[in-house]
Amino acid sequence: MSFNMRNRSLLKTADLTQREFRYLLDLARDLKRAKYAKTEQQHLCGKNIALIFEKTSTRTRCAFEVAAFDQGARITFLDPGSSQIGHKESVKDTARVLGRMYDAIEFRGYSQEVVESIQKYSNVPVYNGLTDDDHPTQMLADILTMREYSDKPLHDITYAYVGDCRSNMGHSLMVAGLLVGMDVRICGPRQLWPDEAHVRRAREVEAAYGGRLTLTDDPATAVKHVDFINTDVWVSMGEAKEIWKSRIDLLRPYQVNAALMAASGNPMVRFMHCLPAFHNTETTVGREIKEHFGLSELEVTEEVFESEAAIVFEQAENRMHTIKALMVATLGD
Ligand code: CP
Ligand code: NVA
Repeated sequence: MSFNMRNRSLLKTADLTQREFRYLLDLARDLKRAKYAKTEQQHLCGKNIALIFEKTSTRTRCAFEVAAFDQGARITFLDPGSSQIGHKESVKDTARVLGRMYDAIEFRGYSQEVVESIQKYSNVPVYNGLTDDDHPTQMLADILTMREYSDKPLHDITYAYVGDCRSNMGHSLMVAGLLVGMDVRICGPRQLWPDEAHVRRAREVEAAYGGRLTLTDDPATAVKHVDFINTDVWVSMGEAKEIWKSRIDLLRPYQVNAALMAASGNPMVRFMHCLPAFHNTETTVGREIKEHFGLSELEVTEEVFESEAAIVFEQAENRMHTIKALMVATLGD
């Protein structure tokens, strides 16, 4: 039987097998080329897709919308202010309603249980557009971007993630590279390491596909000879403002700056970030942090963010091509 992913959901990164991950990367590459060459064909005509956002978004929402439009699908955007979800109607009831109207549902929110429950009760493919626990669609974009910026086979690529390792990005980057056999270094203070269940799951993926996982609290060890250095915000959406001080205290030694990039020993090392990033004071939060803590750059310096080494906007663009691949693979005709 031929390989296909029809009617599949994507709830967490570890749900994908290596073969599926690679298939989605290949499809994303093909769809990206077709869009650039103006030869794109539509595979989602007549499909209706609901996009539920409990948290704010720029990239993920726009990626789903543009990908759907390019492929001939229609979308409905629902946020807490424009629907009954949560305050007047349970997730279970909402999922049963939406499942009767839509061909697929994207959900961004807090709890992983909610996205799983939407999948269980809607009976249509559900895509996790970020929960506190995982960010699987981001992983497709991140690995595609690494593939575009490296001539090595995927299993020879090495990357480090430096920062808050207990977050959706920490969890997801711990698994994504291992799924395609990469050398993955997860680095942060021990208080912010992923919990045992996440590490156990990553170790299973490591064993299954021959990747290498290193957990370390030493940034210099983490970045030695890597091809890519990744980081993310120090306080994620949904976390209390009061946590900023302790996070800054814990994570300051893990800032991605010119010295850390140089510590890789690789003059071609690239910088990655899912975005949004706090690298200057051009945002409200950035200005508040500056006022309260005297810092104008957090997880990454302006110098690194604006350098030739940064590939964050390519990464952002790839959200759209990879999300398109996911929808075409699971829903396409
Ligand atoms: N990287 C990412 O998910 O960005 P948004 O929060 O803007 O969707
Ligand atoms: N860890 C970040 C990722 C944003 C895309 C957050 O959850 O806010």
